Amino acid sequence: EVWLPLAFILGYLLGSIPFGVVLTTVAGTQDLRSIGSGNIGATNVLRTGRKGLAAATLIGDMLKGTVAVMIAGYFGGADAAMLGALGAFLGHLFPVWLKFNGGKGVATYIGVLIGLFWPAAVMFCLIWLATAVTTRYSSLSALVAAFVTPLFLWWFGHPALASLFVGLTLLLFWKHSENIKRLQSGTEGRIGAK
Ligand code: G3P
Repeated sequence: EVWLPLAFILGYLLGSIPFGVVLTTVAGTQDLRSIGSGNIGATNVLRTGRKGLAAATLIGDMLKGTVAVMIAGYFGGADAAMLGALGAFLGHLFPVWLKFNGGKGVATYIGVLIGLFWPAAVMFCLIWLATAVTTRYSSLSALVAAFVTPLFLWWFGHPALASLFVGLTLLLFWKHSENIKRLQSGTEGRIGAK
């Protein structure tokens, strides 16, 4: 099936577009790598003080995953959609353009979920919001929501998607290693903190 490798490559190319880097460079803000966590994602763009740019980064990093899944699924069906999702997520984490030094994957994880089984994306966002409102930790909110997602997919009758998201969640946790250490030592930055 020719669509399977193409779906992965298309996903990777879309996923590797680092919206945070592109938008902050165009807007001429401080270099993301030199502020806050040094990450290229929406949470760190927010630390530039530019809320609109942070929102645009979130939307761009999400929708690239959704678009990858939808195009791959349209041409190649369910298996291609999953490979498109994997490609997009890996593209965001390991973009060739940034010497494979990419983001932590939260927005793109949500984006591919929208394309694959949108109720799980709604659940992710609700858990993220509930955790963020109570703790004001962006990283912890993502970790809790990503922990629940494979269980949710399994519970709602999508075992293949559940397996894929076990892998994505493990990668997401690994990319949050520094955040986890800071959460344990009480030094993680909170949303809105100066
Ligand atoms: O989107 C990544 C988020 O969970 C944490 O971002 O910049 O606080 O490491 P950051």
